[in-house]
Amino acid sequence: HPLHPFLVSLPKTEHHMHLEGSLSPELLFRLSAKNNIPLPSPETDPAFSSVESLYERYSSFTSLDDFLHYYYIGFTVLVHESDFEELAYAYLSTQSREANLRHAEVFFDPQVHIARGISIETIVSGWESALQKVQKEGVDISAQLIPCFLRHLDVKDSERCLSLLLSGGFFKPPNPAEEKPSSRRLEGIGLCSTELDKPPSTWAHIFTTAKQAGITNTTAHAGEEGPAEYITAALDDLHVTRIDHGVSAADDENLMDRLAKEQVLVTVCPVSNVRLRVKQKLEQVPLRRFMEKGVRFSLNSDDPAYFGGYLQSVYCAVQEVFGFTVAQWAVIARNGVEGSWCGEERKRVLM
Ligand code: HPA
Ligand code: ZN
Repeated sequence: HPLHPFLVSLPKTEHHMHLEGSLSPELLFRLSAKNNIPLPSPETDPAFSSVESLYERYSSFTSLDDFLHYYYIGFTVLVHESDFEELAYAYLSTQSREANLRHAEVFFDPQVHIARGISIETIVSGWESALQKVQKEGVDISAQLIPCFLRHLDVKDSERCLSLLLSGGFFKPPNPAEEKPSSRRLEGIGLCSTELDKPPSTWAHIFTTAKQAGITNTTAHAGEEGPAEYITAALDDLHVTRIDHGVSAADDENLMDRLAKEQVLVTVCPVSNVRLRVKQKLEQVPLRRFMEKGVRFSLNSDDPAYFGGYLQSVYCAVQEVFGFTVAQWAVIARNGVEGSWCGEERKRVLM
């Protein structure tokens, strides 16, 4: 494509990538062996016969929950701080070099790790080491880690997790006198996992408590498999400042107007939507509607190791189908910076 070199060099932000979703089958098998964590036997699930058969299985997910089954098996092999560091380093280092990624906001799911006896500290420390290592190598990248509460577990589990996050001081600046944007270990919270029959309102008190504790950056997966009403509920009941996926918004004209008026950033994951059969084809992801309506969106990879590609391949797939102009790509890039949680100083550098 004639715009290919431009699309590669375009400075990028990514706001919707799950750290555990960057665990490749190769690393899954390697960590399983290293940490002595058995995977399901090939007799129980033939997908675990080899790296190739696992990739094959990943290419035919039938729904969000079908994917989540494999995604949470992947978690089991992540044990040591160095495992999380390796995962984070591979993502930050590769994407900054290959896709000119300049700012990343990366999700993780603490509840599933806590249940296995892995502390939040282990994950966050591994992440911080990876980011420092990449920055020391001279890469100009900023990045934040964002814990997501999980909807497939009882909400009481989210309450316990929030208590641990707050008592662990993860949302406090290390030195209160020096508080500036991006000085906290974790900069916001999210909500993800199973969506159908899990209305956002169930998590309202979690988000209220978080807000009272000074957490102002909040987002939620909404309108992926779920209806437009769940997006409205995320805005009204959780008071989130961002919406993850949000593709169902296109079914509700009033909601589209509201998203545009309130300049809510929608973190769209077009390739993920096709892989999880939220949409049959990339063409059906409502990027053109969003663009025409002035609904701000960023493009994201979601779970790149499971969905066949990282951020650059998402940009290329979108360009192939939507054929955006250079001016339209500039709008997408600018909205991504505007909607980031990196603070005004960093935004000026990124603009
Ligand atoms: N949706 C909900 N939860 C998730 C996803 C997703 O696409 N990826 C990882 N956790
Ligand atoms: Zn996601």
